[in-house]
Amino acid sequence: MNDQNDKFWSGRFEQPPHELFEQLNASISFDWRLAPYDIQGSLAHGRMLAEIGVLSGEEFTLIEDGLGQVMTEFARGEFNLDIADEDIHTAIEKRLIELIGEAGKKLHTARSRNDQVATGLALYMQDQIRQHLADVTGLLEAILDKAAAGQAVILPGYTHLQRAQPVLLAHHLLAYFEMFSRDYVRLWRALDAAMVMPLGAGALAGVNYPINREHTAAELGFERPGSNSMDDVSNRDFALDYLGAASNLSVHLSRLAAELILWTTSEFGFAEIADAFTSGSSIMPQKKNADACELIRARAAKVAANHMGLTSLLTGLPLAYNKDMQEDKLYVFDTVETLTVTIPAMSGMIATLTINEERMLAAAEESFALATDIADYLVDKGLAFRDAHRVVGELVRKCIAENKKLGDISLEELRSAAPEFDGSYYGVIDLQAAVARKDSYGGTSPKQVAAQLTAARERLDSMLEAMEESA
Ligand code: ARG
Repeated sequence: MNDQNDKFWSGRFEQPPHELFEQLNASISFDWRLAPYDIQGSLAHGRMLAEIGVLSGEEFTLIEDGLGQVMTEFARGEFNLDIADEDIHTAIEKRLIELIGEAGKKLHTARSRNDQVATGLALYMQDQIRQHLADVTGLLEAILDKAAAGQAVILPGYTHLQRAQPVLLAHHLLAYFEMFSRDYVRLWRALDAAMVMPLGAGALAGVNYPINREHTAAELGFERPGSNSMDDVSNRDFALDYLGAASNLSVHLSRLAAELILWTTSEFGFAEIADAFTSGSSIMPQKKNADACELIRARAAKVAANHMGLTSLLTGLPLAYNKDMQEDKLYVFDTVETLTVTIPAMSGMIATLTINEERMLAAAEESFALATDIADYLVDKGLAFRDAHRVVGELVRKCIAENKKLGDISLEELRSAAPEFDGSYYGVIDLQAAVARKDSYGGTSPKQVAAQLTAARERLDSMLEAMEESA
């Protein structure tokens, strides 16, 4: 008989594990995060075992109370994390046996750590993804509010980071609404993928007991038990889906962060980030740096690497469970902890961002952002677009050489460039009018943008409703 401090599996072994093997093998330093989910899974498993008569009612009551006590110890930070216990699943079971004796030794009937850990991870991910979904709606809300406030604000839209065409600030911000609402959908899909329960798969082949998987699945809030026990214990697609969604979301956060960094430079001067999200310099007293944005941008690299990490870890793994999979959690936990900060931090920054409308407008005015509109004006007067493009290009070149704006060109000069020009030209080169003309579906006209805002608000409301229903 093995002593309580031995491994659960030590019966087969003559030698104790090498110290280096213990170090290599232990995951408790990180998988302690699964403790509440492991306990939740054990409670459902134990209750089901009692229902099918594997445990007596008294035995289950002891297990229930014992696991309750373990949970309390864990919540109070009194639970002992020892690498000799390998992982959190073993540590909890050992502690349970310490607390309640014989009945505790029966809990692992009809169960393997393989289905146990996959179940704990799926439950953990459900919780975390739900929190991310809530955080994403918070971000969408912040973006929407800023966009609504920016319906009359004009700034240059950029391509190649060169001033391109004037757009409404609301339109610009709503582009991010689109990006993050796609992330919301991707996260939701990852949540769906985590709704299939591995518990009951045993080590890989199923178990020798008449277990009721439907029942445990329902109790744990899963949609259904997995349909193939070998897939159940080796599947980590839900984690990959999550990391893929997280990576995409982080790319979007990084792009917004980069744009805020640009907008808050003295060169742009389009916006100012609240003091609370910036920091100063240890030597240059005047500095106010967009550190939060830079770090959000940098963390996108880490999240993408986590996605790649788990992809690589799973690549080529034969069925079914392999110990490699123990390290899936490193990528998942790191990503969860990253997004838990980056999404709300971005929401906070957007909500408190100060916009410099004058600078935005001035940048649009200083530019040749209406050149396309002039070409279209000439098309309206009968020129082919390619000819019109050339005429306007030459006018821009002339303006640059003479240090003039498009509005400074005299009608005489215009007519010598193309006889089709007339006095109505000066009404065309008006920013408000130019923006209003971009009235194609999805365009930047106030009418289109107002429609986008309304639609976005409706989408956000249905996201919030869907989350309430699933909670
Ligand atoms: N700590 C392990 C993990 O995270 C639990 C499963 C161990 N299973 C095994 N056959 N050794 O994957």
